[in-house]
Amino acid sequence: MCGIVGYIGDQKAVKFLIDGLSKLEYRGYDSAGIAVDCGEEIFIEKAVGRLDALKDKLKDNEPAGVIGIGHTRWATHGRPSDRNAHPHSDCTGNFVVVHNGIIENYMALKEGLISRGHKFLSETDTEVVAHLIEEEYKGDFVAAVRSVLKKIEGSYSLVFMSRKDPDVLICAKQDNPLVVGLGEGENFIASDIPAIISKTRKTYILNDGEIAIVKKNSVEIIDRQGNATDKKIFNVSWNAEAAEKGGYEHFMLKEINEQPKAVRDTMSKRIAKDGSAITMDELNWDEKFLDEINKIYIVACGTAYHAGLVGKFYIEKLARKLVEVDLASEYRYRDPIVDEKTLVMVISQSGETSDTLAALKESKRRGAKTLAITNVVGSSIAREADQVIHTWAGPEIAVASTKAYTTQLILMFMLALYMAQIRKTVSQERERELIDMLKKIPAQISETLSDVDPIKTFARKYGFNEDVFYIGRSLDYSVALEGALKLKEISYIHAEAYASGELKHGTLALIVEGVPVIALATQKSVYEKTLSNIKEVKARDAVVIGIAAAGDTELEKYLDHVIFVPETDELLIPLLTVVPLQLLAYYAAITRGCDVDKPRNLAKSVTVE
Ligand code: G6P
Repeated sequence: MCGIVGYIGDQKAVKFLIDGLSKLEYRGYDSAGIAVDCGEEIFIEKAVGRLDALKDKLKDNEPAGVIGIGHTRWATHGRPSDRNAHPHSDCTGNFVVVHNGIIENYMALKEGLISRGHKFLSETDTEVVAHLIEEEYKGDFVAAVRSVLKKIEGSYSLVFMSRKDPDVLICAKQDNPLVVGLGEGENFIASDIPAIISKTRKTYILNDGEIAIVKKNSVEIIDRQGNATDKKIFNVSWNAEAAEKGGYEHFMLKEINEQPKAVRDTMSKRIAKDGSAITMDELNWDEKFLDEINKIYIVACGTAYHAGLVGKFYIEKLARKLVEVDLASEYRYRDPIVDEKTLVMVISQSGETSDTLAALKESKRRGAKTLAITNVVGSSIAREADQVIHTWAGPEIAVASTKAYTTQLILMFMLALYMAQIRKTVSQERERELIDMLKKIPAQISETLSDVDPIKTFARKYGFNEDVFYIGRSLDYSVALEGALKLKEISYIHAEAYASGELKHGTLALIVEGVPVIALATQKSVYEKTLSNIKEVKARDAVVIGIAAAGDTELEKYLDHVIFVPETDELLIPLLTVVPLQLLAYYAAITRGCDVDKPRNLAKSVTVE
């Protein structure tokens, strides 16, 4: 959470700081601030609310300095306010700092600092860092930062600026992302790549424990002991336009519409030319490797967790291996039964989610083999796992995840089929048939995207209901969970997903006249049972909207409205049924006037526990 930027060069720093923050606002948006070294003093401006509030304050008061840092905040310690917004400074105003993460021992440090006469202006954990640097500074800025890092515990990406050292910015990283972008006669700092790709593709992605000493014409990376590290430049392959809205009103709508390409990119090069097999060049698994594994965990958060639920289904169905799916925030604290015979797969779009990263580290500590499925090359999770397979979705900016989910499903499906190939649990004929259908999915998503008018109509009609229920069985239930999450996170409508068979055990009591129920009915093996459940809610006068495969003539007989998606294998249909659910959430949020890309209280990348 929280976005960080820094600039050092010959240009007015404020330009990059504001532009960079606008690209990072999805990381947090309850307040923002910048600090620019203006020689005589460090200019600081902060504003509670969106970045526009800060821009307004700067309109007639733009600092001219060429070195600066900035921050968009997602509050953890201290409510959103001007005072709690970053950057924070020490008592003298000589040092400023921006921070993403949590300083866990800040209370003890703060008490000590107060007893030594320091005056605190905010309620944040970050401010202790500014006062500590004031105490530790004895004329050597790098040495002072290293001393501060020895005193603080917790997670952080930090950028320090000192008026006494006007030619340098210093960054430190532990558990939260930080990237240095390398320019010509200027350098950039950001917590995420979208902030810098319009400036440079050449980056240093910092590792935990590294410190970057960033000057106008040089960047030096050292470890905490002060030794130089052998850092390789990482070239970012995304293009700058990929992180722009490209004519769409919102990133979410753009990303929904990018799904055919994202899915195609993710599957391409992973299917043998003759269409007979899945090739996973990243993995070198064989029968022995898979036989030795007696347990598979899929661990993730949010939408990625929902992709994991589908992944479990795929692996169990195709590769006949038992899979447990766990929320990363639960898994890491419940002493999971994990050893060297366990394979732990973590799924994370950003590759930075704090709980998922911690779950991965804990699994490794217990000796498990680990595999990461992530969208961000070079992310913490990608670097921590033994093996990585990337979704090629391109940058996902909207807080509500869409194309990351569908690309994760594609990879889970391909991984399951790859495992089935090795274990010979699926016939060659069936594999070829599934691959044929897989290849059609991008075009079928496009087809689904071409018919949005009925969805807009439903959204307008039911967008003001306070409760919506989603039901389904088998894979339809997993997709229902994702559909309900989409609706609640961006439209703030109370949405719940239930396995249809569970309705009778409580939820049916909530179904009354006029309550919208979205019923997914695509799984042939449980079709009749799903139909019975639909009739049960209809009998209570719910307004039922069905999601079915083309060719289903039954559902329409009972339902008020049915949205059809193209026909495919029932294993692959979640890739299609999720699309109308994403669109429904999007248009419901628009109907209610919600800020689609930046839903209240949420952030794209959850880098705190
Ligand atoms: C946040 C985002 C979700 C995302 C989840 C996990 O809650 O808003 O869209 O699914 O984090 O993120 P990850 O980057 O690990 O997939």
